[in-house]
Amino acid sequence: MTKVTADDHVRGRVYAPVTVLEYGDYECPYCRGAARDVAEMLARYPDTVRFVFRNFPITQLHPHAEQAAEAAEAAGAQWKFWEMYELLLQPASRLDLDSLLDCAAALDLDVGRFRDEVTGHAYLPKIERDVHEGIEDGVNATPKFYVNGERIDGKVPLEGLEDTIRAAVRAVSGSLPGARAAGRVRHWCMAMWRVRDFHADDLDAAVRLWDKPEASSEAPAFGLSDLIAAVRSHQPAVVAVVGEELAGTAVATVSGDRAWVMRISLGAAWRHRGIGSAMLGELERRLVAAGVHRIQCLLDGDSEIGPLALEHSGYRAHRGMVLYERVEPVGPASAGVLGQLGGRMVRAGAWDQLGGMVREKELIERRVILPLAQPQLAERLGLVPPRAIVLFGPPGTGKTTFAKGVASRLGWPFVELFPSRLAGESPAGLAAALRESFALVAELDKVVLFIDEVEEIAGSRQPRTVSAAQGVTNEMLKLIPPFREQEERLLICATNSVRALDSAFLRHGRFDYVIPIGPPDRAAREAIWDRYLAALPHGELEMTAIVEESRLFTPADIEFAARRAAQLVFERVLFEHGHEEASTGDIVHAISQTRRTLTPQVVAEFEQDITDYARVLACRSTP
Ligand SMILES: Nc1ncnc2c1ncn2[C@@H]1O[C@H](COP(=O)(O)OP(=O)(O)OP(=O)(O)O)[C@@H](O)[C@H]1O
Ligand SMILES: [Mg+2]
Repeated sequence: MTKVTADDHVRGRVYAPVTVLEYGDYECPYCRGAARDVAEMLARYPDTVRFVFRNFPITQLHPHAEQAAEAAEAAGAQWKFWEMYELLLQPASRLDLDSLLDCAAALDLDVGRFRDEVTGHAYLPKIERDVHEGIEDGVNATPKFYVNGERIDGKVPLEGLEDTIRAAVRAVSGSLPGARAAGRVRHWCMAMWRVRDFHADDLDAAVRLWDKPEASSEAPAFGLSDLIAAVRSHQPAVVAVVGEELAGTAVATVSGDRAWVMRISLGAAWRHRGIGSAMLGELERRLVAAGVHRIQCLLDGDSEIGPLALEHSGYRAHRGMVLYERVEPVGPASAGVLGQLGGRMVRAGAWDQLGGMVREKELIERRVILPLAQPQLAERLGLVPPRAIVLFGPPGTGKTTFAKGVASRLGWPFVELFPSRLAGESPAGLAAALRESFALVAELDKVVLFIDEVEEIAGSRQPRTVSAAQGVTNEMLKLIPPFREQEERLLICATNSVRALDSAFLRHGRFDYVIPIGPPDRAAREAIWDRYLAALPHGELEMTAIVEESRLFTPADIEFAARRAAQLVFERVLFEHGHEEASTGDIVHAISQTRRTLTPQVVAEFEQDITDYARVLACRSTP
């Protein structure tokens, strides 16, 4: 069967309309002679002819022919088939194993692999398939040529070949005026289309080409806007034109010494003419000139340039690779606003780093994170996701850390407003700054907005007095309802002093939940210690003692005590050459040096606050 398959070695434009197929034998003197003519023919018809070589070693006459064929295939496995083909078909080439190994070395192949594959006959089955095909196609001597399936007979085949090629070119190209010289044929074919740089004027036509509905369900890796952005920013791009018509485009994007071929597009009428390969070749020249060393190309299902074209242009497929994609939640439009607000993305995993505090975590996970993360399900079941919550508790219990953890779990940007920084000169300035900040926040697609020490801007108003501070509280009260109307956002306010908040502020309808974040209980303290001691070399530790000694410690106190212990050990090693492992004694000593944030009175007040203000199932911990 003379139809070209993926197994075949193809030279020239992969999509050239005329296929010249040779069954050849590397030891056959006629094949060697023909190799020169084949090279000349490819040079003469660069756009219209592709050449395929199949093995047909005649082992009865040529004892080294089969091994030479194996050598060419082994070189092909290392992307050097045609280089080896040329060496083997040199008039004086020797084909014994040592000479083949020399050729492999000269081509810079992995000679060990090459030797193993040749002597292990790794490609013999392929050669036998070629021979079998040849016999089916009626090959009785070498070289045997076929032009678009038509067999060329005769002792000096290349003369017949020339005529047949011209006839074939005529057949694929419509009318070819008269019997012209081969040079004219080439000229005529070349005039059909040409490849040049992408100009700004090409954009409209290019967009029409790029914007056709994709046959596959998956969006292409590089979409229309990516392509437009690339050509606008003068990334390397070429077009193929036929007269005034834009037949195709090839666009790349360069980063350092790497480039991606983003898309090769061809109008439907211009497929299978080698235009895609020609554009790729031209694009590559520009990329190399731009200092690119590695070119990558991602094919989607209905790419107009096929894997074969790339493989024969020297690209190596990384089979089994899967494209993983992550779309960062902050688009370029939001990024500017986020920058103005000093916002950022919180690293993934921040939520998991919260040690202990199991009840608080579970509560926030169920009431806050999941309804926001599963909005369709929530809506279907009539659950309105929360838009604003208050976290209250003594200092250092982890309110800010929880807020960041929520942003991390949701994958939303985190914006913190600092009342003290917004204040400016006067309370009137603070109200205006708040208004401005909320207006900016409204421009973000999604956001966790965090306001710490919220009592500073939502403190209780005194009845029958009008103060500027009250104006701020009023402003804050006004800002929350419109904030709640937008989706994919959450306001988290935190305070150490929930009782100082204006009662209207905490009302239902403004805040969905008022959640206590209390001092860590025993289990939480142990989990938090585990987290901070993980970085400290230590032997067996009596955790019961450590947890007990750190009663009334907040997570912040534990973090501080762990650092103190690390400092203690560091100085011991440095100054006393003492042992490097922290002991229970070291930790307990560090604890004794750390001032507790909590007092029984603070805890008692917190418990009372839970009774008075908490608006969820209280998740209290006993310190
Ligand atoms: N559950 C936890 N596990 C480990 N570390 C924690 C935990 N909670 C808080 N921390 C750490 O304790 C320190 C104080 O936490 P954070 O700032 O979140 O407390 P806060 O309640 O916001 O304090 P403040 O009321 O002073 O604003 C931070 O360094 C944080 O990393
Ligand atoms: Mg805080």
